[in-house]
Amino acid sequence: MASFDLAGMTGVIIGGAGGIGQTLSKGLASAGADLLIADLPSQRVQAEEVAHDIVAMGRQAATLDLDVTSLVSIETMVSQAIERFGRIDWLVNTAGMNIRKPVLDYTEQDWDRMLAVNLKGAFFMTQAAARVMQPRRRGRIVHIASQLAAVAMHDRSIYAITKAALAHMCKAFAVELAPYGLTFNAVGPTFVSTPLTTSMFSDPVFVDENLPHIPAGRFGTTDDVLGAVHYLVSDAAALVNGHLLLVDGGYTAW
Ligand SMILES: NC(=O)c1ccc[n+]([C@@H]2O[C@H](COP(=O)([O-])OP(=O)(O)OC[C@H]3O[C@@H](n4cnc5c(N)ncnc54)[C@H](O)[C@@H]3O)[C@@H](O)[C@H]2O)c1
Repeated sequence: MASFDLAGMTGVIIGGAGGIGQTLSKGLASAGADLLIADLPSQRVQAEEVAHDIVAMGRQAATLDLDVTSLVSIETMVSQAIERFGRIDWLVNTAGMNIRKPVLDYTEQDWDRMLAVNLKGAFFMTQAAARVMQPRRRGRIVHIASQLAAVAMHDRSIYAITKAALAHMCKAFAVELAPYGLTFNAVGPTFVSTPLTTSMFSDPVFVDENLPHIPAGRFGTTDDVLGAVHYLVSDAAALVNGHLLLVDGGYTAW
């Protein structure tokens, strides 16, 4: 299955020090890729630990401070990747945040903050990466959306709106840039236990309410997300474009 081999490829993982990001970074490196791991300065120690593990695998890895809400920071990320590795074969965006509240309680600040990280940052990093990918006529961009890109859920309205828009954004980029060999896809995981969701998973009410809604009978793991992302950045998915790949154990099937 040579088409799943990532040897010789250079990838960028945004949010690579996070729960899902760490598994993606190490997993995609083990499939052969060299990596730039970009995350907030507050995550620098964790990012460097991930890079250390990747170098121990015999791959190249570099870390970079990045705030996706800053366009300057995004431009720096792309130029650093090119300077260090000469190109970006694919970019995986895991940066995301959630403020959980009833729909009637959200403030304008909540809206602006979540849109800035989950959507505006995603748009401009996609644009910046696609600009350097287009002349090479090859490139893959994968965003971690959510099952809430497909369905709504109480106390998560703005999050769900941003994730649905993220999936739709992939279609918009695909329509314009597929002729240049670029693909734009999103992965929609169900609930996965990570630092972002620790408080949810430790709440028995959350587990009792939501586990029965997943026909597979279990929550997701970061490895479940890795399988989907590995496929989408690989040559095996060359003709998959503008797609939301749900990794939800059937949560959205009913
Ligand atoms: N954990 C889940 O249950 C779950 C389910 C579906 C989708 N997701 C999505 O998967 C992605 C990763 O989630 P996770 O659970 O690993 O969360 P996490 O909080 O562990 O990781 C998110 C990462 O994004 C980074 N980040 C946040 N804001 C940033 C910014 N402004 N600039 C750069 N980096 C920034 C964080 O530093 C962190 O490393 C998120 O987009 C989340 O919405 C998570």
